[in-house]
Amino acid sequence: MAETLTKLAYQTFQQGKSYFGLAHKTLSTQLLNVLAPDAKREIEPLSTELLLQLQQRLNDLLERDWLDAEQGVYPASLLFDNPWEDFFRYYPQVWLDMPKIWQRVSEKRYQDFSPTVRLSGYPAYYVQNFHHQTDGYLSDQSANLYDLQVEILFNGTADAMRRRVLSPLKRGLESFAVAPHQLRVLDVACGTGRMLRQIRGMLPNASLYGIDLSPAYLRKANQLLSELPGELPQLIQANAEELPYLDNYFHGVVSVFLFHELPPEVRQTVIEQCFRVLQPGGVFVICDSIQLSDSPEMAPAMRNFATMFHEPYYRHYTTDDLGDRLEEAGFSAVQSETHFMSKYWIARKAAQAETTVNS
Ligand SMILES: C[S@@+](CC[C@H](N)C(=O)[O-])C[C@H]1O[C@@H](n2cnc3c(N)ncnc32)[C@H](O)[C@@H]1O
Repeated sequence: MAETLTKLAYQTFQQGKSYFGLAHKTLSTQLLNVLAPDAKREIEPLSTELLLQLQQRLNDLLERDWLDAEQGVYPASLLFDNPWEDFFRYYPQVWLDMPKIWQRVSEKRYQDFSPTVRLSGYPAYYVQNFHHQTDGYLSDQSANLYDLQVEILFNGTADAMRRRVLSPLKRGLESFAVAPHQLRVLDVACGTGRMLRQIRGMLPNASLYGIDLSPAYLRKANQLLSELPGELPQLIQANAEELPYLDNYFHGVVSVFLFHELPPEVRQTVIEQCFRVLQPGGVFVICDSIQLSDSPEMAPAMRNFATMFHEPYYRHYTTDDLGDRLEEAGFSAVQSETHFMSKYWIARKAAQAETTVNS
């Protein structure tokens, strides 16, 4: 009975977030058409069949999420974790920010930053208004709005998609016979810390680490993660191309929504770095956008994403074989799966004994 009620509560909670996301997108599109007709872009209408498929994929994601919580992979409380205070506080700013975004879009300005933002010290590919974000990833304002904007984009399922990382991560960590507090897990490009929050819910005693290039997003992550009981994850500002850790250090490495924002050759470098810092026997889980190879029917939705948002590396990403890249870096047993709008790669670094036997 209690479980049925919790499931019902979860479905209602997700439905609320989904309606909110849809309402926001409908209203802002209507407003954009009236106030800034020049900024109109070529958006492909999605067929009824595709919309139904999308709804089915979303339902399947939520069902899997619920089942994992029910089976104890992670606590059911995680299903309801949401930064409500931030959402209410910053939602008006999402609207107030829009005229600036529309202005930049209509003038095709994609590397436009406030004068107070320091731009030196970052790779050139990073200094962009990714998804037309004001100040890219480089201001506190951007960090305050990010989670809300991602939830709107994915109709409230961003965390449910992140949680698909948890069960393969947990399975991968089971091969290590160490005490829970000795497990070390790294989140590469941790952003505002939403993935680390989910991992902390599943692994309350593990040592968690996060790196990101954005000092503002790390400040936000620090603020949000410090609300949780247990040890604060160690956050470091660093480039994923040069992870500031010893070889063979982590039992698990994850990365969420990073690879579609990297140029192709940088994707390879980052994967190689993840391989380097992972212990033999360790697991690496990537979560990012779906791709054309396994979700061809979703091609119009992927094209719309590339049209509506400034994502200079996305089109290439949708055809990039990350499985090949992982194997080239030395990973084995690479598997992939898709859930709603995300694709996941689960890869292992062979344990020492396996390497010796295979070589
Ligand atoms: C789309 S956000 C994803 C953030 C977070 N993982 C999530 O689940 O929402 C991409 C993140 O990657 C970071 N990033 C991009 N390129 C990076 C690089 N070369 N090294 C480290 N972080 C990077 C950005 O600062 C941003 O926080």
